[in-house]
Amino acid sequence: MTALDARPDTTATLRFPAGFRWGTATAAYQIEGAAAEDGRTPSIWDTFSRVPGKVRNGDTGEIAADHYHRMSEDIALMRRLGVTDYRFSVAWPRVQPTGRGPAVQKGLDFYRRLVDELLASGIRPVATLYHWDLPQELEDAGGWPQRETAQRFAEYAEIMAGALGDRVATWTTLNEPWCAAFLGYGNGVHAPGRTSPLASLRAAHHFNLAHGWAAQVLRSHLPSRSEVSLTLNLHAVRPLSESAADLDAARRIDAVGNRIFLDPVFHGRLPEDLIRDTAPVTDWSFVADGDLEAASAPIDSLGINYYSPTVVAAGSSDAPSPWAGAEEHVRFLPAPGPRTAMDWPVDADGLYELLTRLRDDLPGVPLVITENGAAYDDYADPAGEVKDPERVAYLRAHLAAVHRAIEDGADVRGYFLWSLLDNFEWAYGYSKRFGIVHVDFATQRRTFKGSAHWYADVIARGGLT
Ligand code: FCB
Repeated sequence: MTALDARPDTTATLRFPAGFRWGTATAAYQIEGAAAEDGRTPSIWDTFSRVPGKVRNGDTGEIAADHYHRMSEDIALMRRLGVTDYRFSVAWPRVQPTGRGPAVQKGLDFYRRLVDELLASGIRPVATLYHWDLPQELEDAGGWPQRETAQRFAEYAEIMAGALGDRVATWTTLNEPWCAAFLGYGNGVHAPGRTSPLASLRAAHHFNLAHGWAAQVLRSHLPSRSEVSLTLNLHAVRPLSESAADLDAARRIDAVGNRIFLDPVFHGRLPEDLIRDTAPVTDWSFVADGDLEAASAPIDSLGINYYSPTVVAAGSSDAPSPWAGAEEHVRFLPAPGPRTAMDWPVDADGLYELLTRLRDDLPGVPLVITENGAAYDDYADPAGEVKDPERVAYLRAHLAAVHRAIEDGADVRGYFLWSLLDNFEWAYGYSKRFGIVHVDFATQRRTFKGSAHWYADVIARGGLT
C-alpha cells in the first residue's frame, strides 16, 4: 500500500491561496551529469570535486542523476507529482564554455528542449542562471573576487534571455550567493575552495553587482509577463539570550549573512555596521561609484531557501570559519531538537520568523520559498518501497509554517521542495539524499518515496490535511 492509497478522504484544512505555486527544485551540477558532452567544459565544481579530500568518497558530478539523458523521464515524474512549476538551473559552462563569447548551440538546445517539454506538460519553467558552476576559465582569471566576472555574468544572462526569454516564466539570477561567496572563497568547503576573508567579501559584492546588471539586462530583453528574481539563503538568526552581548552577536551574523545582500539589492546601500565590523579585513574600496545603485535594479520577487535556524551567542568560534572575521565575536550553538541526516536541526519556526521579518522589512516584495527540504538515510526496502516518514513530518511542519506566515500577512506566492531527485549534495557527494524521488545511482532507477506520494496529495488538495 502506498501513502496515496492510505490517505484519509478529507479535504485540506490548511488551504493555500488560489494560484499558489507548487514546485520542486534541482540544480544543474547536482543532477545533469554529461559533464564533458556537447561542448561543456569544466566548472569550478568539476575541478574542486577532483581534489582529494574535498568531496566525500571522492564523488563528482560527472554522471550524477544522468538527467541530461533522462530529462523526459524526469518531467514525467513531475507530471505524476502534479507540480505547477519546476525550478532548475542552467550550467553556464554548457552554454558558454569559456564564460566568454558566443554560445554553444547544443548546450542551448538542451535547455530549449527542457523548457518546451515543461510547457507542453503544463509546468512553468523557473530558471536559475547561477547555481555555483562557474566556468573554470573564469575562476582561473580571478573568479568572483574580480569585478570582470560580474560583467561576464551579465553577458551570459543576455545570451539566455535571447535564447529562452520568451518561454521561461521566472528568471532567477543567482542561487545563494552567500554560500558561493563565503563557503567558496571564505572557508573553502565549496568550490573553488579558497580561504580568504577579503576574497569572500569581494565575491559577495561582485555577486550583488552581477545580480543587478543581469536583472537589468533580463528586464530589457524579456516580455513584460516574465519575472526576474534572486534567491538568498537568509539566515534565521536567533540570539541565545536577550543580553546585549548575545544580541550583538546576532546582529553581526545578520549583517554578514543577510543584510550584505538585502541592503544592496533592495535599498542600494551597504549596511553601516557591516562596514564597521569588517574594517579589519577591508575598506570596501572595491565598490565603485554606481555599483550599489546597479545592484538595486528592481526585481519582481525574492526567493528564499530555508533549512534550519542559526543560534548564536557572544564568544568566539574556531577557525576555519566562513564569516569574514565575525567568528571572533560569535559562538554558534546547536539548536535543540531533532536533526536531519545533515545534522541540521528541524525547526519550522525559523521559517515562520524569517517570512514575517521579510513581511515587515520588505513590504510589497512577493516572496517565494525556492528551496526547503531534508536529507534522511533513505533506502528501498525488499518490496522496493522507500518510506521516509521523517521527511514527510519535516515538510508538513514547514508547509504549516508557511501557511501560518501567509495568514499573518506574509506575501508568499509559492513553495519549491528541495529536491525532486536524490543528487550530488556538494561536499557530501551522494552520501546525502534530499530527493522525494529515490535514485539508485548504480542503475539510475527512479522510485517515488513516500514523501513524493504525500506531496502529490498536498498539491492535489491545495494544502495540508
Ligand atoms: C542549498 C543549495 C542546494 C542544496 C541544498 C541542500 O544550500 O542551494 O543546491 O544543496 O542546500
